[in-house]
Amino acid sequence: MAAEPSHLVSLTERAIAEIVDADTIHALNAVRSRYLGRKGEVTSVLRSLGDADPSERASLGQAANRAKQAIEDRVAARRGEIENAERNRALGRQSIDVTLPGAGPLAGRLHPISLVMRDMVEFFTGMGFSIEEGPEVETEYNNFEALNIPDEHPARDEQDTFYLEGGNLLRTHTSSVQIRAMTGREPPFRFIAPGRVYRHDLSPRHSPMFHQIEGFMVDEDVNFADLKGILYAFARHLMQGDPELRFRSNHFPFTEPSAEMDYSCRLCDGQGCKVCSHTGWMEWGGCGMIHPRVLDRCGIDSDRFQGFAFGMGIDRAALLRYGVPHLRLLFEGDLRFLEQI
Ligand code: PHE
Repeated sequence: MAAEPSHLVSLTERAIAEIVDADTIHALNAVRSRYLGRKGEVTSVLRSLGDADPSERASLGQAANRAKQAIEDRVAARRGEIENAERNRALGRQSIDVTLPGAGPLAGRLHPISLVMRDMVEFFTGMGFSIEEGPEVETEYNNFEALNIPDEHPARDEQDTFYLEGGNLLRTHTSSVQIRAMTGREPPFRFIAPGRVYRHDLSPRHSPMFHQIEGFMVDEDVNFADLKGILYAFARHLMQGDPELRFRSNHFPFTEPSAEMDYSCRLCDGQGCKVCSHTGWMEWGGCGMIHPRVLDRCGIDSDRFQGFAFGMGIDRAALLRYGVPHLRLLFEGDLRFLEQI
C-alpha cells in the first residue's frame, strides 16, 4: 500500500486535533464543515482529482477518501462524547437534594373561632341538645317583639342595631333562634344555636360582628338548678379546669328571673389581674328562665311548661384559649397571625 501523501496526513492530523478540541456541537459542526463541507479542505482535494497526474489519481483519490472517512468517524465519536457530557451537565443541574426540607402544600385549617364553636357544639350535642340555625337577616318580630323586648327598649336603638331597608335587621343576638325553634314545636326539646350576630360596637373587646351560642331547653319541670348544672358542666369543659361561676341578678325582657354570669378569671385564679380589670371575674353571658310571655307567643302552654335559656359570646372564649390580645385579629384573615394558632 502506497504511503499516504504527506499533505493529506498532516491535514487529517490537524482535523483530528480540532475535533478533539471542539467541546460543543456547534464548534464540532464548524470543524466538520471546514474539512468535509462543500468548500472543505478534503472536499476540494477530491474535487481537484481531475487535475492530478493520471498515474497518481487513483491512489490520491483513495487516500483522500480514507482521510474523509477517518475525519467523519472522529466527528461522530466526538459528537457522542459532547452529547453525553451535555446530558450529564443537565442532569447535574436538576439533581435532587433529598436532605432539603420539603415544601408541602398549604393545608387549610379551621379558624380558631370554628375550633371553639365546634368544641362547644360537641359538648352540647353530647348532652342531648340539637343544633338549630336561624338567618342573620332577621325580622324585628323574632329579634325583639316575640322576645318581649318592647318598642321603647334601648336594645332596639339604632345605636346598637343595624336596621336594613324594608324593616328587617341584622340579628343582635342568637335569642331570635329561640322564637324560630319553639314556634309550633311541642316540648320537651333542647337546642343550641351558634352563629354570627351584629351590633354597632368596636373596641379591643368588641367587634360589630361577633359570635354567640344560645342554648335553651323546655320541659314540664325544668328549673334554675338544671340551668346552673348545665352551665357548670359547660364551664368546666370549656376552661378545662374547675372555674367558679357567679350569677348576678339582672334583667332580660325574655327571661324571668334573669342572671348575668361570670366565671373566675383563670389567669389570676380570681386574685385580680389586668385581664379581668382586677375584679377576679370575667363576664360570660346572660341566662334565665324563659319568660312565660315568650313561651305563650310561641304557642307553648306556659302553665304546663317551663324552660331555661342562656347565651354567651364565642369569640372571647377563643381569645382566652389562644391568648389573642385583640378581637380584630380574629376577623382580619391575616395568615401570618392565623398560622401561629
Ligand atoms: N341574648 C342575650 C344577649 O345577647 C343573652 C341571653 C340569652 C340572656 C338567653 C338570657 C337568655 O345579651
